[in-house]
Amino acid sequence: MLRNKPTPAKPMGQITRGKTARNRLRRVDIFVSLYAASLLREASPAENKSWVVDLGYGAEAFTVLESAAHLGKINPKLPILGVEIDQERVNAGLPYQTDRIQFRKGGFNVPLQAGESIRLIRAFNVLRQYEEAEVLPAWQTMAACMLPDGLILEGTSDPFGKRLVTNLLRVKAADAGKKTLIWEGLLFSTNFHDGFSPEMFQPVLPKNLIHHMLPGEAIYQFFEDWKSAALQQIATQSFGLRQHFCATALALKTMGYPILTRKKLLRQGFLLWQLNQPLCTISDRYGKSLPESI
Ligand SMILES: C[S@@+](CC[C@H](N)C(=O)[O-])C[C@H]1O[C@@H](n2cnc3c(N)ncnc32)[C@H](O)[C@@H]1O
Repeated sequence: MLRNKPTPAKPMGQITRGKTARNRLRRVDIFVSLYAASLLREASPAENKSWVVDLGYGAEAFTVLESAAHLGKINPKLPILGVEIDQERVNAGLPYQTDRIQFRKGGFNVPLQAGESIRLIRAFNVLRQYEEAEVLPAWQTMAACMLPDGLILEGTSDPFGKRLVTNLLRVKAADAGKKTLIWEGLLFSTNFHDGFSPEMFQPVLPKNLIHHMLPGEAIYQFFEDWKSAALQQIATQSFGLRQHFCATALALKTMGYPILTRKKLLRQGFLLWQLNQPLCTISDRYGKSLPESI
């Protein structure tokens, strides 16, 4: 019997500047290995891949290949999918394809084949080039493609990845085949090469926050409190930047901020402000065929 081929959905989004750099997202890989190792470890049958997606990887495939190498240490079979809205940039990745690493043209509505799913999406330095009003719809579109418990890291870094701020978004199963999108937290990270002060993160705030550094806004108050914590803890500076960073995190916690104070993360320059804020309910793109959990 002849069947029509399914028409691929039009990629949602727009082509933006494709600037990237080697190792730019290395810190994101390190964080994901520490924070979401169990999500990465989950087995994925070759015929029903559950992808880690690098969405909007840019003009070169560096970050996709680096993630494949780094996260592959946790799970050597972990499938990695590079998604770009620009066909030329997809073509740049194709020579590096293997069974485990693939490149596809697509948008926030990630192109999947029958039986495939997504466990994690990283979309870095993508939404900063969009309007703020486009952020939540983009998050919802990505989340609709994901398995329950899947994680989205949507954020911004400086050109070489020395510092970054990212939203952590979690997809949770809800009633009647729907899913809830949770704003799990906001992660601030530095490799300390530029020293440390809370202000250094302001220029790399993601699009949903960058225009909200105004008195009365929660993100503004957070920075005010972090700066005052940095002043209070100034004595720890003499022990080094890492100690100073850790001390400010503990001081923020004392002030009442739900900061994740896992030593291993803090010592490596990862400060996670845990928000756990439900954002919205979304329909499941795959209806009943979606597995309950990974
Ligand atoms: C500045 S580059 C970021 C490259 C890389 N992620 C990094 O951080 O170095 C942004 C890329 O995102 C791509 N892009 C923008 N919107 C997209 C979308 N909706 N879906 C897929 N790719 C998108 C652009 O074509 C561009 O290549």
